Amino acid sequence: MSKLERIRMKEKEYHDHCYNNNQLFMEGSWLHKPVKTIMDLFDIIQDHSEIKILDLGCGVGRNSIPLAEKLVNRKGTVVCIDLLESAIENLVQYGHKYRVLDKIRYEVTDISDFNIEQNNYNFIFSVSSIEHLASEDIFDVTLRNIMKGTVAGGMNCFIISTNIRETEVETGTALEPMYELLFETDYLLNKLKSNYMNWKCIKQTIKPYEVEIIRDGQRVLLQGDVVTWAVQKTN
Ligand SMILES: C[S@@+](CC[C@H](N)C(=O)[O-])C[C@H]1O[C@@H](n2cnc3c(N)ncnc32)[C@H](O)[C@@H]1O
Repeated sequence: MSKLERIRMKEKEYHDHCYNNNQLFMEGSWLHKPVKTIMDLFDIIQDHSEIKILDLGCGVGRNSIPLAEKLVNRKGTVVCIDLLESAIENLVQYGHKYRVLDKIRYEVTDISDFNIEQNNYNFIFSVSSIEHLASEDIFDVTLRNIMKGTVAGGMNCFIISTNIRETEVETGTALEPMYELLFETDYLLNKLKSNYMNWKCIKQTIKPYEVEIIRDGQRVLLQGDVVTWAVQKTN
């Protein structure tokens, strides 16, 4: 099994378990609440007559469902993409439960295989997902497609883990992080800055984080930074 296949298998195990054992918007997991930055950014584009949103690596709709609720009784859609069937199956159920299924389009696919129509979206975002693209070259191509897919005045927002380290809690042994792309924080910021040179910066933050997870029955400490990058296309 290749390293990529191993990482994808572990991610699938973790997310399938998480999505099938935690309820959206219930306390007890990170599915508890939508990401405030994503909700706040909607306000910037809310006056457009039609709003098209693309959520890359949508999971079960933690952010897409509340955004779809904002589009009820107005023109607009949220397009939701995820690699995992369990994510999209749950998304559809939540879409039904929260009565917003007609506002949502969905597809089980790799972010990098999804055809982002040019000059089409008012808001494209990805929360904790594009660091899971298969290679840096694919990341670079996807980033350019995201930029081209955004209309003038539209927004892009990424929340990305960087400087990732994993340590076995019992022994203190450093482990190989189960992430496809292991960006250093400054390296990623420079890449984003050079790509988005002519866009308006709306938000740029770096926050250290630390979380304990269980992997293969072992307690693992996951540490790193979370980069939040939100920009608006000016022309
Ligand atoms: C940490 S979860 C975050 C989900 C959602 N963005 C949220 O904030 O609730 C990461 C999600 O990205 C999806 N994912 C990872 N790599 C992907 C890829 N290459 N293409 C599409 N989805 C991917 C996973 O299946 C998972 O549902």
